[in-house]
Amino acid sequence: MRRPVIAGNWKMYKTAAEAADFIRELKPLVAGAEAEVVVCPPFTALAAAAEAARGSNIVIGGQDVFWENEGAYTGEISPLMLKDLGCSYCIVGHSERRQYFAETDAKVNRKVKALLEHGLRPIVCVGETLAEREAGQTLTVCQRQVEEGVKGLTTAQAVGLVLAYEPVWAIGTGHTATPADAQEVISFIRGVLGSIYGPEAAEQVRILYGGSVKPENIAALMAEPDIDGALVGGASLKAQSFAAIINYRGKGI
Ligand code: 13P
Repeated sequence: MRRPVIAGNWKMYKTAAEAADFIRELKPLVAGAEAEVVVCPPFTALAAAAEAARGSNIVIGGQDVFWENEGAYTGEISPLMLKDLGCSYCIVGHSERRQYFAETDAKVNRKVKALLEHGLRPIVCVGETLAEREAGQTLTVCQRQVEEGVKGLTTAQAVGLVLAYEPVWAIGTGHTATPADAQEVISFIRGVLGSIYGPEAAEQVRILYGGSVKPENIAALMAEPDIDGALVGGASLKAQSFAAIINYRGKGI
């Protein structure tokens, strides 16, 4: 059984004080949740968020990382530094980083390896643009991003990964992929992992869907057999809506 993961990607929102307030509000709403709860604040709010989450079932992740431990890399943050602040996860290869910050598959791969070396769990994002989807390239693009992103990992490392399928056209647009479309691509991604690491290992990898996930559409997405959770942007910025997504199965809000 794969334990579901509901992760919030706050992108460039919230100060440290706002992050701490949010975590304090979220804690009682998600105590005892079946899903693993991950919050990924901006770098500047990581310490405050981790401190506020201490002793709860909420874990903290970064949104990006550089692959070296230390050195002359102005502006960068290392896996050691993330760990030092109490992170256990880190998003890698988000489409916004690929689009605006020249993130390549090769860089994603180096970041994934660096995180794993320090016991941090990568959330590796893949997904096609609208132009790629319209050109019928969805599966080819996702296959390349997965194969290059996880290149050189051992099977033991691969099973600990979390992947996130985030079609770029669904991010921040309100246009969620249909559960069937998301299932099709996610099941394909599991197949790609299976051809590298074997089907048994691929069955253990958690693969999330991201792109306009809301309290209203989470249950239908989660009903698909290969969708193991969600990477949530906008709807993770309010504790009430994020909690409603986390509690999709039970009490809800
Ligand atoms: P939205 O949920 O705002 O569409 O963002 C999705 C996303 O990019 C999560 O990483």
